[in-house]
Amino acid sequence: MAYYRSLGDVPAKRHTQHRDGSGNLYYEELMGEEGFSSDSSLLYHRNLPSAIVDSRVWELPDQSTTPNHPLQPRHLKLHDLFPGESWKDTDVVTGRRLVLGNADVRLSYVVAGAVSPLYRNATGDEVVYVESGDAVVETVFGSLKATEGDYVVIPMATTHRWLPQGDKPLRAYAIEANSHITPPKRYLSRYGQLLEHAPYCERDLHGPSETLTAEGTDVEVFVKHRTSRGVVGTVMVYPEHPFDVVGWDGCLYPYTFSIHDFEPITGRVHQPPPVHQVFEGHNFVVCNFVPRKVDYHPQAIPVPYYHSNVDSDEIMFYCGGDYEARKGSGIGQGSISVHPGGHAHGPQPGAYERSIGVEFFDELAVMVDTFRPLELGEGGLACEDHNYAWTWAGRGPKQ
Ligand SMILES: [Fe+2]
Repeated sequence: MAYYRSLGDVPAKRHTQHRDGSGNLYYEELMGEEGFSSDSSLLYHRNLPSAIVDSRVWELPDQSTTPNHPLQPRHLKLHDLFPGESWKDTDVVTGRRLVLGNADVRLSYVVAGAVSPLYRNATGDEVVYVESGDAVVETVFGSLKATEGDYVVIPMATTHRWLPQGDKPLRAYAIEANSHITPPKRYLSRYGQLLEHAPYCERDLHGPSETLTAEGTDVEVFVKHRTSRGVVGTVMVYPEHPFDVVGWDGCLYPYTFSIHDFEPITGRVHQPPPVHQVFEGHNFVVCNFVPRKVDYHPQAIPVPYYHSNVDSDEIMFYCGGDYEARKGSGIGQGSISVHPGGHAHGPQPGAYERSIGVEFFDELAVMVDTFRPLELGEGGLACEDHNYAWTWAGRGPKQ
């Protein structure tokens, strides 16, 4: 994210001596992307950021996946994954259940009430969408507040932890990339400023407001990282608490962006799907559908035309309002629809005609479109509504 911020105590000149009031040196760390040829930040630590005293295996929850074969559109009911009070002892990091995944991105869901361990994802950036509830996200860059509708964007290898707030469950939809997740390039000037036609701007991005330090010894950090065999976990133990940064500056840091600050682009006739885009990663995009005035040509059909997104699987997470095109399909709050490449999709029967003359859609959804096929994770398989594929035809296979 090429938008400069500075927080806390940093020296006037980079790469020079920086000391505390007693004359002790702080340790400068350059955290940079793409071989230090892209965005970076400089962080000033009280302790050596490289000091560890132990390293052991963290067994990740089931990361296996099953191909979408035979090919079908699918409906996954994520709210079924955490029944009863099970969320109270679940945390946002270790409690994630894998819903869908491929070599580029993993989509997980969790309902949490417990504080997570310290964590960093060394496989890529994460965007965690908060479906409901409140949280504080403590990071080496400082604290972020997150609430319903927030995307929490956490750069690769940022040590952080999730602290649910209040007594309501924190529902989170985690988009884990094997790459970086950024605003779409077409929204940015050649120097990285968000342009006038972008549906959001820098004022809508909220970084940490103050630095955060903590005391502790032999502190565990759960690290998700890459191997040639896929994503694995390691617990690294630090002699002192990793939250020891007195100041930082640069263009690489975690931030939040509320879906409610996304300004929809509308028109007389149906606008193309890319107008809903909010972020992009390698081989996938993130779009969102927000409450909006809909198509106002006198002959307009406001729901989408039937479409074949031939290079993509489309994964829609329904997180608010009432999604007009899916009425009658069983889809509701907390549902995911999987519309795979190789099969056209569009509104449920009757929705096409019903939408004529409608002026406003009250709908909220987060969509991830991938350019390589997604496979079903154990969480996805566990909450599938097997009737969805037949809802356009009104019946399934003849018995
Ligand atoms: Fe679609």
